[in-house]
Amino acid sequence: MNIVAPSLLAADPMHMERDVRLLESAGAKWFHVDVMDGLFVPNFSFGYSTVSALRKITNRILDVHLMIDRPLRYVEQFCKAGADYLTVHVEADTPENISATLDKIAEYGVKPGIVVKPKTPIETIEPYLEKCALVLVMTVEPGFGGQSFMADMMPKVAWLKQTLAKVNPTCHIEVDGGVDIKTAPVCKENGANVLVAGSACLKAEDKAAFISALEA
Ligand code: DX5
Ligand code: ZN
Repeated sequence: MNIVAPSLLAADPMHMERDVRLLESAGAKWFHVDVMDGLFVPNFSFGYSTVSALRKITNRILDVHLMIDRPLRYVEQFCKAGADYLTVHVEADTPENISATLDKIAEYGVKPGIVVKPKTPIETIEPYLEKCALVLVMTVEPGFGGQSFMADMMPKVAWLKQTLAKVNPTCHIEVDGGVDIKTAPVCKENGANVLVAGSACLKAEDKAAFISALEA
């Protein structure tokens, strides 16, 4: 069974707890939490205070996606805030620092993940695959919800599926951006098993049906 991680970026910020409860009742087992610094991406979103507030109200998996420059500076705060998975962009620092960042996340007992932007070749993350519990392939340019799915990212997912089978077979393959009822099947066919869905999930009238369809 696949995992659906509703993205809380698409929730109503004034009714976050209500939306978390709605999604829990609909069967959500993970929540995707986007963190943006206005520098690595041209937008702002949640910080570690949001992660810690979420941690207090839900026992579901918190999948925290850091879209921030030099994330090593904030690993401690996000780990202590209660992230279960903490994912950093390969483009966000030097190779040495990215490696150190993944190690530091693991030292806090949190599961490390790495992300690639659409224009970044997938081979860039090869040196880190053994350190990761999750690899995230962006299927939109990071920064905003509600964009169109980039089907041309699917070869990256297929490459990961093949490569991880050899070096780290339990590592999750996640896709993020424009995932909905129509685009999820091709993600799964290529090997993704964690599907982030923001606007499509929050807008779905029957959220339980939406989540079950993507999980299947
Ligand atoms: C975009 C974020 C996504 C976003 C996805 O930078 O990383 O997690 O919430 O939203 P949708 O599903 O609406 O494309
Ligand atoms: Zn995200």
